[in-house]
Amino acid sequence: MNASFTITIDNQSVEATPGESLLEVCRKANIPLPVMCDFKGLSPVGACRLCLVEIEGVPKLLPACTTLVAPNQAVHTQSDKLRKYRRMIIELIFSERNHICAICVANNNCELQKMAYELGMDHVRFPYLTPVCEVDASHEKYVMDHNRCILCTRCVRVCSEIEGAMTRDVMGRGFDARIITEFKQPWGDSTGCTSCGKCVQVCPTGALTPNDAAQGRLKKNPELVALLIEKREAKP
Ligand code: SF4
Ligand code: SF4
Ligand code: FES
Repeated sequence: MNASFTITIDNQSVEATPGESLLEVCRKANIPLPVMCDFKGLSPVGACRLCLVEIEGVPKLLPACTTLVAPNQAVHTQSDKLRKYRRMIIELIFSERNHICAICVANNNCELQKMAYELGMDHVRFPYLTPVCEVDASHEKYVMDHNRCILCTRCVRVCSEIEGAMTRDVMGRGFDARIITEFKQPWGDSTGCTSCGKCVQVCPTGALTPNDAAQGRLKKNPELVALLIEKREAKP
């Protein structure tokens, strides 16, 4: 059994165990952090960078979800610098694809939109890249709209780590990166997809939706997937 130690987060002493991430410790201590790619129970990837924190003595800002605790760490989660960077990051996410909330099926039920409100984003200061993105409506139950995808990879991880289907992956890099099914087949042609819908439930935006969702009426239930993961982890 690993001996626990104490770190400070926002000048508060918090108990930590070797191997835990700063995000896990913050959660235990009820210290809120903005997250978008993280989903409790899935492996952390540090994709969105919204959970950046400051660690005394470390010149760079580090993502809390992929940074492990260490003895004597002094961490800060709230500062003008962090607020500035988080605001910039959320604006950059919006500028990368075609997020037009007013006509999105996830309007008012979108983690990205909610995060933008929370971080005080009232406009985007960066040029919109307006990529030409596909909508894959080939699946009998679900739709993938790449225009709304923020490449958080929650869907990829839940599909491989929880459902075990390994249907989804990321192809390409940077501006050209896309979520694919199998070897870039239409989703509906996938033989590995079990149609479980877990990817749809954990997707934080309107990128993955049931194909009968009406504009602004979408309801997702990521809590159900979180509960499933929790029960599975608690199994002896
Ligand atoms: S529906 Fe299930 S099996 Fe199919 S891609 Fe989504 S998570 Fe994977
Ligand atoms: S489809 Fe959704 S869950 Fe998958 S990477 Fe894009 S935004 Fe994330
Ligand atoms: S939640 Fe940590 S980088 Fe996305």
